[in-house]
Amino acid sequence: MRQRFKAVTVVLAVIFLLGVFFWILPPKTSSALATWEDWVDFIASKKSSPLAPKPEKSILARLEEGQKIFRYDTFGDEAFWGDTLRLHEAIKGENLGGVGPGVSPKTALSVGLKVDSEALPSDLARALRAGKVDLDDPASTIALLQNDAVVGIKGFFDKQGNLISIGIQCAFCHSTVDDSFAPGIGRRLDGWANRDLNVGAIIALSPNLQVIADRLEVDVPTLEQVLASWGPGKYDAIVLEDGKAFRPDGKPAATLIPPAFGLSGINLHTWTGFGSVPYWNAYVANTQMRGMGTFFDPRLNDPKKYPIAVKTGDWNIKNEPDLITPKLADLHVYQLALKAPQPPEGSFDPEAAARGKALFNDKAGCSNCHVPPLYTEPGHAIHTPEEMGIDAFQAQRSPTNGYRTAPLAGLWTHQKGGFYHDGRFATLLEVINHYDSLFNLNLSQQEKNDLIEFLKSI
Ligand code: HEC
Ligand code: HEC
Repeated sequence: MRQRFKAVTVVLAVIFLLGVFFWILPPKTSSALATWEDWVDFIASKKSSPLAPKPEKSILARLEEGQKIFRYDTFGDEAFWGDTLRLHEAIKGENLGGVGPGVSPKTALSVGLKVDSEALPSDLARALRAGKVDLDDPASTIALLQNDAVVGIKGFFDKQGNLISIGIQCAFCHSTVDDSFAPGIGRRLDGWANRDLNVGAIIALSPNLQVIADRLEVDVPTLEQVLASWGPGKYDAIVLEDGKAFRPDGKPAATLIPPAFGLSGINLHTWTGFGSVPYWNAYVANTQMRGMGTFFDPRLNDPKKYPIAVKTGDWNIKNEPDLITPKLADLHVYQLALKAPQPPEGSFDPEAAARGKALFNDKAGCSNCHVPPLYTEPGHAIHTPEEMGIDAFQAQRSPTNGYRTAPLAGLWTHQKGGFYHDGRFATLLEVINHYDSLFNLNLSQQEKNDLIEFLKSI
């Protein structure tokens, strides 16, 4: 008995000492910090003057808030997508008091909308798994909206549960899901470009396209042609300001949806470098999502380049109340925190990628512009169309008149839809062949292949 008591005491003492050891003795390194609060304390504990600014304690709360805004905020844009475009009526369909055939989950998935499996209540998830949800019935789409399970779309309901409006969120274009539940249904991937999303086809469902047609000074059939020209993964974020829907060669003016991750440290954003992340967030939330906020850019007050922005006053928007400006800081913090995801193991050949890396940084000269680890130039990363060996159309729709060196981290996540701003190169090989002839690189087949493997690895 006494011996057992002794043994227990010894064990307890050892546990106690180990506890003290792990608590007090180890030097604090950033890898040992479990939470953001620990991390903030760690940074604050570094030797510095008592007058030195301290990191914000609330940074974790701001990240959470930023995520909420990115995923769920509509900035009041339901006044446009619901009340004006009446897209909720198209979703409901005639049978439920709306218009047309309605949007079934099957139709929604076919235009690239994604379902957040984590938002599904367990009974609905079980019914879906068992094949007991009618995927041809618009009422099932409404059930998904009721659970906030359609990524990027928020349904607004009255007390009786009737869908009365809808709004869109940043996640609409800049999130997808991992398909872990079923194709198009899974856990959220914030910041990923949704290259399946057919924005044009979704807007075309509106029973009131006249408002957009009026803005563009075209008739509805012409607008329908424009919307049909975009295709999956593309959107035209400038046409509402400059009215240019097609290039001189007749091809659509839309650009690929880029990822919204991996952007910290980078100065200029969008394919043509319109401005910083918070600049573009304000531009998009006000002028494209048509949320209620404030936006000012005198560069758009140019009747030749942006006749519609001038006519409608989009270059200088002021709304009361302002539902956008107070959110820009937290949204920015969250976006900067989204790192480009690492490619899965086995998705590229590591030996070829290592050889490709050497080529990228040396013989092929890629790193002259795509400077690692940002893969764009620190500074003003804008190049003329002539330098890039491509047409000037999209560049001239931007205040910069150029193309921004595209950041390449996480390139593996957006292989669909092609490469360059309009997806003109269907494959990475086509991109490399373009550079090969533009810069007379004389790359062999093997070297081209190595470069491709490297691009898949970053
Ligand atoms: C309807 C689709 C759509 C929605 C909604 C949308 N975006 Fe975008 N976003 C785009 C497209 C298309 C571009 C590229 C525009 C261009 O370069 O012409 C873009 C570009 C960006 C960029 C620049 C990325 C880079 O490569 O540097 C950021 C950042 C961004 N969006 C963030 C947001 C945020 C934040 C929201 C919500 C406030 C939002 N977007 C809403 C389609 C969308
Ligand atoms: C003179 C500067 C410059 C050099 C050198 C350069 N690039 Fe680029 N790169 C750009 C610009 C600018 C774009 C964006 C073009 C556009 O948006 O149409 C781009 C786009 C890309 C893209 C498409 C990214 C996407 O998201 O679609 C890839 C891939 C790429 N470059 C790889 C390379 C490789 C590989 C090399 C070396 C063989 C290279 N680049 C050399 C400036 C450069």
